[in-house]
Parts: sequence; C-alpha cells; structure tokens
Amino acid sequence: MKTLIINGSPRKKGDSMAIVDEMLKYLDGEVKFIHTYYADISPCLDCRFCMKNSGCCIDDEMQEVYKLLSEVDNVIITSPIYFSELTGKLLSFASRLQTYYVQRVMKKDESFKLKEKNGLLILTGGGDGKPTPAIDRAGIIFRFINAKSIGTIMSLNTNNVSATHDQVALAQAREYALKLNELHK
Ligand SMILES: Cc1cc2nc3c(=O)[nH]c(=O)nc-3n(C[C@H](O)[C@H](O)[C@H](O)COP(=O)(O)O)c2cc1C
Repeated sequence: MKTLIINGSPRKKGDSMAIVDEMLKYLDGEVKFIHTYYADISPCLDCRFCMKNSGCCIDDEMQEVYKLLSEVDNVIITSPIYFSELTGKLLSFASRLQTYYVQRVMKKDESFKLKEKNGLLILTGGGDGKPTPAIDRAGIIFRFINAKSIGTIMSLNTNNVSATHDQVALAQAREYALKLNELHK
C-alpha cells in the first residue's frame, strides 16, 4: 500500500502533522510526503500548454507528484485552517491539478483515467468555527485526483488544546489508519 501525504502547513511539527504522525504509527506500507511550503512547486501559470498537449510543461517537483498520483492507493491532505480555507500554499499546489480538469472535462479525453484512491482530510484550527470553505475545497481536490473521501478528522480549538492532546482526533487518526489498512487487504 502506498500513501501520499500532502501537508498544507508551514509547521512540520505542528498540529496538522501531529495527527498524521499518530496515523503513521498504525498505517501499513510506504509513505511519501509533499510539504507544500517547502517543495519546489510553482502555481499553475495558465500557460494553456495542457489544452493542446498532455500533462504540464512546468518542470518542477510537481512532475514527481503527477507520477505518484497515478500509483498511490491513498492521499491524505492535512492542513491548518487559514481564514476558514485550506492554506494558500496548498491551494497554489492544487492549482497544478488543473491539467487533470482540462484533460477530463474540457478535452473529454476518455483514455484519461487516474488511478482510483482513498482520500482522507485532516484539518486543524485555532478556533472552533466550521471550516466549510476548507472542506469544500478539499472535496474538489479529491475529485480532481480521483480520490474517494473516507472521512475528515478535525482538531479545532488548538489555541487552547494542541492537536497532540486532542484525544478524540488522535483516536480517529488510529481508526482511519486501520481502516485504510483494511481497505487495502
Ligand atoms: C494566517 C492564519 C490564519 C488562520 N485562520 C484561522 C481560521 O480562520 N480559523 C481557525 O480556526 N484558525 C485559524 N488559524 C489558526 C491555525 O489554523 C491553527 O493554529 C492550527 O492549529 C495551526 O496548525 P499547524 O500547526 O498544523 O500549522 C490561522 C492561523 C494563521 C497563521
């Protein structure tokens, strides 16, 4: 089983990654990470190369991500909530998925089929407001990469209780790791 973790937080040891770290104690198989704040990944430049060709012409780390997205079994998106949204860097990363939209929806390329995978969303927030924009946007990302969402883990109110002490979210992390193992059997 192969899992890609897309981290939208600048904090590699922050709340969002704390939930991931708990999952990793139980998750089987190989794990790859994209830390969107530190990866060499440009936003989509709307150059429209993908409208006439297949794939994306920007030669950066995203090329490796495209390869991973055609082979992984699971994608876990983890992000702090910024202004009720996924972080800007994560959205910038996601703009590079436009090539999939162009191929599938605009060019109606029937031969294009990304491997089906499981998706899991992890959100952390300092307050306790419902992060509807972040949830909606993650849903779009999952659709673009052909991931079926198996659920969402939220650790809110981290201004008062960090995710490392959020027993409910940590328990969910364990449960979802075991569920992904089970789904892969
Ligand atoms: C620029 C910025 C905007 C934020 N906006 C929100 C928000 O809209 N709602 C919320 O609950 N928390 C907000 N937060 C708090 C973070 O979501 C919270 O501290 C989170 O636990 C950080 O996760 P991390 O350690 O994985 O980066 C914001 C933090 C920053 C830096």
